Amino acid sequence: MRLAVRGFEIYPGFLDLPAQRAVFGAVRGVVAKAPLFRPDTPSGKPMSVRMTAAGSYGWLSDKKGYRYGKTHPGGAPWPDIPPQVLDIWHRATGLERKPECCLINYYGPEAKMGMHQDRDEADMQWPVVSVSLGDDGLFRMGSTTRGGKTESIWLRSGDVVVMGGEARLSYHGVDRVRAGSSTLLPKGGRLNLTLRVVE
Ligand code: SIN
Ligand code: MN
Repeated sequence: MRLAVRGFEIYPGFLDLPAQRAVFGAVRGVVAKAPLFRPDTPSGKPMSVRMTAAGSYGWLSDKKGYRYGKTHPGGAPWPDIPPQVLDIWHRATGLERKPECCLINYYGPEAKMGMHQDRDEADMQWPVVSVSLGDDGLFRMGSTTRGGKTESIWLRSGDVVVMGGEARLSYHGVDRVRAGSSTLLPKGGRLNLTLRVVE
């Protein structure tokens, strides 16, 4: 099934439970090598999500601003993007081109993400693919200008969203998570992976 909401392509249940478990296992492997950290916003406030990444680039935020970087704040290169995750990108987009960054966001019960555009990549022709695991997250979708009408949908574990075409530069965010709605993550919470072509 595919839902189209304001240009966002939503694939509920893209990953069945065994596939969700396999992707979660692969993400755990990444986190073991590149631990989650809590970035600061450019204004110096700690974000409520914790983050890490896989691929040749990770996404960073601190007082210097938003940018991609080739190393984890600890200094090591980011781990490779797991093959199970690359497979989702290829299946969801049909593209041969591989993403260079898999940003991993972890939402505890109180975490959220404000409305923003994904605009730190060099070429916006390529879509961004989002994969949700664990607790439900209320995903809000707007348009390419800040403010105005929005629509929200609860993203559940295994759901995939493709942000391409008219939605590639649309504002989006996560208002809240529904703590305890999934048992996939042994300690609870929500993981969201976003796959991006950076260069
Ligand atoms: C993001 O926009 O980076 C995350 C979206 C989500 O958590 O669903
Ligand atoms: Mn985003």
